[in-house]
Amino acid sequence: MSDSEDEGPPQLSSYALAALQEFYAEQQHHHSDLCGDDKYNIGIIEENWQLSQFWYSPETAMRLAEDAVAAAGEGGRIACVSAPSVYQKLRERHRDDVSVCIFEYDRRFAIYGEDFVYYDYKNPVDLPERIATHSFDIVVADPPYLSEECLRKMSETIKLLTRGKILLCTGAVMEDAAAKLLGVKMCKFIPEHTRTLGNEFRCFVNYNSRLDCNLSVQLPVQEGPK
Ligand SMILES: C[S@@+](CC[C@H](N)C(=O)[O-])C[C@H]1O[C@@H](n2cnc3c(N)ncnc32)[C@H](O)[C@@H]1O
Repeated sequence: MSDSEDEGPPQLSSYALAALQEFYAEQQHHHSDLCGDDKYNIGIIEENWQLSQFWYSPETAMRLAEDAVAAAGEGGRIACVSAPSVYQKLRERHRDDVSVCIFEYDRRFAIYGEDFVYYDYKNPVDLPERIATHSFDIVVADPPYLSEECLRKMSETIKLLTRGKILLCTGAVMEDAAAKLLGVKMCKFIPEHTRTLGNEFRCFVNYNSRLDCNLSVQLPVQEGPK
């Protein structure tokens, strides 16, 4: 750009103009993605490692979602606490036959409108009035940190939300703490992420779950106990 007022209105250099056009095109593309049918694709919201975000592989998200649907039963209500990929898979696959809420600290997930509930595990019982206690058939939760403090706080939320069933995904090292806090036991199924994680990761449940076998194939959906 020129500093002189005599040379007419300021002009962007061709490089700056091209960069700006590219930026707007990307924004447009991203916006149309979020508004269209792709809205529920895992990864549509990029991982932010500062927030300890590591997304499940689509196969794992599917397996967890199907298990939650079977456990919740027809017309059931499912809470996904810090587990946005499971929420996305549930919405992608079961648009009308289950009711789902996504409890998340990352406000980018507010694109999911009424389903989104802002949640910070540090204030575990600080939930909006529209969320009735013990109103979810199952809670699927994945704490952001592998610490007893984080699991203890999130456990308060889980117990407040669930009518009984819990599907927890976290590091295998949390097995004893998870059993003590939530009465859940480790499943054989090994969840996978889109990136390789350094720690051994597992699922824990307190109900009769099909995750208790380590099949890597997807099982057909069946009606689960209410
Ligand atoms: C380990 S990731 C679990 C994501 C899961 N693997 C998935 O694919 O859906 C932890 C999640 O906790 C969320 N998180 C980060 N800080 C949080 C906080 N203070 N309170 C609640 N959730 C938080 C992250 O945004 C992220 O979705």
